[in-house]
Amino acid sequence: MKDPPVYVCICHALTTTDIEDHITAGARTPLQVGKRCGAGTDCGSCVKKICAILRAADDEAGNIDLKIAG
Ligand code: FES
Repeated sequence: MKDPPVYVCICHALTTTDIEDHITAGARTPLQVGKRCGAGTDCGSCVKKICAILRAADDEAGNIDLKIAG
């Protein structure tokens, strides 16, 4: 059973589910996630959490690039 969604990005009111949906839709870097929904583009304190979600998705599916830029 999957964990219930929790807030990842307070600045943009985005949950783990929101971030996972953007990864499923094709985001492969924190920058790509930010361009899609704004996560990590204000105070930046959630970028490490976004990287952790990307890393978890990579463990499941592969091909995730954790570069901050690009
Ligand atoms: S908490 Fe995500 S940009 Fe501030």
